[in-house]
Amino acid sequence: MLDYIINKTMEYLDGMPKTKRKKIGQFFTGLETARFMASLFSLPKKEHLDILDPGTGSAILTVALMERLEQEATIKSVSLICYETEPAILDLLKENLEYIKSAVSFEFNYKMIIKNYITSQQKPLPIADLVIGNPPYRKIPRLAEEATMMEHVVYGAPNLYFLFTAKSIENLRDGGELVYIIPRSWTSGAYFKAFRTFLFKETTIEHIHLFVSRDKVFENEAVLQETMIIKLKKQANQLNEIVISSTESSSDFNNIQYIRVPKKLVVGNDDNQYVYLVTNKEEVDVLERLSVFHNTLSSLDMKMKTGLTVDFREREHLMDEPTNDNVPMFFAQHLQDGRITFPIGKHGEYLDTRKSALLQMNTNYLFVKRFTTKEESRRLQSSIYLQDDFPDHKQISTQNKLNFIARNKKELTKPMVYGLYCLFNSTLYDKYYRILNGSTQVNSTEVNTMPMPTLDGIVFLGERLLKENDLSEKYCDDVLEEYLNDEARRSERVS
Ligand SMILES: C[S@@+](CC[C@H](N)C(=O)[O-])C[C@H]1O[C@@H](n2cnc3c(N)ncnc32)[C@H](O)[C@@H]1O
Repeated sequence: MLDYIINKTMEYLDGMPKTKRKKIGQFFTGLETARFMASLFSLPKKEHLDILDPGTGSAILTVALMERLEQEATIKSVSLICYETEPAILDLLKENLEYIKSAVSFEFNYKMIIKNYITSQQKPLPIADLVIGNPPYRKIPRLAEEATMMEHVVYGAPNLYFLFTAKSIENLRDGGELVYIIPRSWTSGAYFKAFRTFLFKETTIEHIHLFVSRDKVFENEAVLQETMIIKLKKQANQLNEIVISSTESSSDFNNIQYIRVPKKLVVGNDDNQYVYLVTNKEEVDVLERLSVFHNTLSSLDMKMKTGLTVDFREREHLMDEPTNDNVPMFFAQHLQDGRITFPIGKHGEYLDTRKSALLQMNTNYLFVKRFTTKEESRRLQSSIYLQDDFPDHKQISTQNKLNFIARNKKELTKPMVYGLYCLFNSTLYDKYYRILNGSTQVNSTEVNTMPMPTLDGIVFLGERLLKENDLSEKYCDDVLEEYLNDEARRSERVS
């Protein structure tokens, strides 16, 4: 059945320009992915099933699920609800649904709803035992009707894909299951916070599937989206573990890697509800090792912030030489081997003091680069900034291509900055950050939620670095490793 529907879809694709499909968010699931998605359901032992496929397209996902149901002896009848708004595909969709009706051995009836899946349901009802979907991926304005109707899951820039997911959760019956293929972006970041809170409250994540070579999901379609498959169950959480599977790409499901991961490692807590996308034992170990730390920068009254000055907007206020009326302005280029090298003779290294909104106290900071390249071996690249190295200035400024960590009310002491450096320059924290965020950018929101030792612990690490005067990654790793082992022993003794 599926081969037939895919061939029909290919014919449709030949007649439709990609630019048009991109505009409406129409990209079709491949055969292998669709089969795999259908295989994830733990089918209830029922004779009749109500199934929902929102944004049905040509019904590829529905067909994959029907193929699966054909193998289940208990199924006697299926009612399918489809939502689809694109006029150009409606004929093909109807044709395909009729084809399914004629091909399956159980009773099959369907309802095609040619309405906007989000806005046509003012009060969504729990109508489905199973939901399967590949929703449109498209950013929409904050005031678009879809977003204003789904305010409970919107916290910033909305995207149709997570509004579809939330609506489908609402359409699921208690105990029902949802399998969706969606971008990875919702798993971290502030914009998706309200959605994550909703998802965690209403469902249990049972299975996550990741594609290791991140960009190959819609190979034929050349859509560069980092995607994942999730399986959710609408019931209170009873599982302590999540299954995470992975394949190299979406066209090769012959070689699937599976790991079972303690849920508490992968799905954060109330303050930090990220989903950590790990695909191997080594990454699970990274999460496990740092799980002994229960603080965050926020809980330690510290914060990572982004540098204050957008240098190209301030050209006329930047100067090449120091005067009484300007202050040092630190750029990412001044971060060198863990220390600050200043000046380096680049243009505009000093900022006019009249730009008072762009000035900050000259105090101790840890500077962390905001942008790194894929080729660079580390995402977290930091340097120690000490106020004493610039004794002539009460204030300084920072370029917005670097982040800085400061203490909110008090100043960071020298051992504290060294201690933070030890953490941020270690291999373990670099790996942790990569799990948290797949991009090359270092975001404050995520760093502010990373696990941190106590303040005393940070000072202890800093003193070790100061004593040896060694800022190498290797030394930071050794000092942190020793400290973690001691911590693990201490917590064993307590328990
Ligand atoms: C990414 S495609 C996936 C199609 C199909 N489910 C598949 O997996 O091959 C999303 C589909 O949703 C449809 N769509 C977009 N916005 C919609 C809306 N607001 N309500 C219903 N369908 C919508 C598009 O026309 C498109 O066919």
